[in-house]
Amino acid sequence: MRREIGVAVIGMGWMGQVHSRGYRRLFHHYPECPLRPRLVVAADAVGERARQSAELLGFEGWTADWREAVEHPEVEAVSIATPNYLHREIAVAAARAGKHIWLEKPCGRVPEETYEIARAVEEAGVRSTVGLMYRHVPVVEHARELIASGALGEITHYRGYFLADYAADPHGALTWRYKLDGAGLGVLGDIMPHTVDMAQNLLGPIESVLAQKETFIKERPEVPEGMGTGHFVVEGGEMGAVENEDYVGCLVRFASGARGTLENSRVCVGPHVRNAFEVNGTEGALAWDFQRLNELELYRFDGTGERGYKTVYAAPKMGDFERFQPGAGISMGYDDLKVTEAYRFLTSIYEGRQKEPGMAEIVSAMRVVEAMDRSCRSGGWEAVGQGVPSERGAGA
Ligand SMILES: NC(=O)c1ccc[n+]([C@@H]2O[C@H](COP(=O)([O-])OP(=O)(O)OC[C@H]3O[C@@H](n4cnc5c(N)ncnc54)[C@H](O)[C@@H]3O)[C@@H](O)[C@H]2O)c1
Repeated sequence: MRREIGVAVIGMGWMGQVHSRGYRRLFHHYPECPLRPRLVVAADAVGERARQSAELLGFEGWTADWREAVEHPEVEAVSIATPNYLHREIAVAAARAGKHIWLEKPCGRVPEETYEIARAVEEAGVRSTVGLMYRHVPVVEHARELIASGALGEITHYRGYFLADYAADPHGALTWRYKLDGAGLGVLGDIMPHTVDMAQNLLGPIESVLAQKETFIKERPEVPEGMGTGHFVVEGGEMGAVENEDYVGCLVRFASGARGTLENSRVCVGPHVRNAFEVNGTEGALAWDFQRLNELELYRFDGTGERGYKTVYAAPKMGDFERFQPGAGISMGYDDLKVTEAYRFLTSIYEGRQKEPGMAEIVSAMRVVEAMDRSCRSGGWEAVGQGVPSERGAGA
C-alpha cells in the first residue's frame, strides 16, 4: 500500500530547488515508489525566496525559520541544502526529532562536524542519504561492474579529478563558500568528497595520501549575506580575504594496491565541470567525464589486435537509465541523478534499510579529506583513519 510522506526542504538555493524537483518528478520515473512525497514546507532564511519557491514548486507552506520545518508534526523527512555552516546544527536537530535526512555534501564545514552528524543519525536510528549523486550515472555503474568483474584485469592506476572554473573569475562574489565560518574547507570540502567517493566507489578504500593545496585568488568582492544563490559575479565594492583553498592535488595509495592521483580546482580556466576519472588495469582501461555524462571510454584487449578506446553509450540495463530514456544515444541529464537519489532516499525509509550513499560513505570520504588536510600541513604521507572517531577524537 502506498502512503504519503511529509517532506520539508531547507535552503531554497540551487540545490534546494534540485531536491524539490527530484521529489516532484519521482512518480514520472519510479511509479511504483511506495512513498508519495507531500511537499509540506519550504524553508529559507530569505523569506521571499522561501515563499516564491513554495509557490513555484508546489509546497503547501513556507517559513524563514528552519526549526519550524524540522519540528513540523507532518514532516517525516527533511532535505538539507543550506550553506555548510548549518549542516551540523540542522541535521543533528532533525535526527534528534526522529526525521530522516537527505543531506547535501560535505555534511558540515570540517570532518569533525560530519562525524557529529553521523553519531546523531546512528543514535536516532533514522535513514540518511547524502548528495554524492555521481554514483548514480548509468555508465559509472557500468564501469563499477566492469572493474568488479575483473574485465579490466588487475587495476593498477587511477586518476580522479574535478577541475572547475566556477570561481575562476576574480570578481566572483565572496559568498559563504570562501570563508572558514561559512564553508570551512575550500575545494577539500566542496568537491573533494565527490572525487574521493567516486574513487572509493570504483576501487575500494584509500589507505594513505600525500597532498598539497593553494589559494590562487586571495581576495574577492564582499557581498551581504543572503544576496544571490550559487555562484555570481559582482563589479566593484570592498574586497575581502578568501580563507580556504582553491586547489588540492594529491597522490593516493589504495588498499587494493592500485596507485593514483586526485586533483581538484575551482579556479581552473578551460574545463568547466571536468569531474572525471581514468582507470587502467592489466587487461583494459576506461575513462569518464561528467561533461559527457552518457559516454564511457572503454579499451579492452579483444583478440583483434586493434588498439584504442571505443565509446560506450548509456543504454538500458545500465543503472537506472531506462527509467529516463528508452535507448542508447538519448541523453540523461544532471537533475535526473537527483530523481534517482530521491527514490533511493524514500525507498530506504520505506524498507527501513540504509542504502548507499549515506552517512557511512561521506564519513569514509571525509576521513580521506582529513588525511589530505593533515598532509598539506605536514608535507608528508598521512594514513587514512577508519569509521567515526569517538567524540573526544581518536586521531587518525
Ligand atoms: N551534490 C552536489 O553536487 C552539490 C552541488 C551544489 C551544492 N551542493 C551543496 O548544497 C548546499 C547548498 O549549496 P547551493 O549551491 O544550493 O547554495 P546556495 O547559496 O545557492 O543556497 C543556499 C540557500 O540556503 C539559504 N539559507 C542560508 N541560511 C539559511 C538558514 N538559516 N535557514 C534556511 N535557509 C538558509 C540561502 O538563503 C540560500 O537560498 C551546500 O552545502 C553545497 O555544498 C551540492
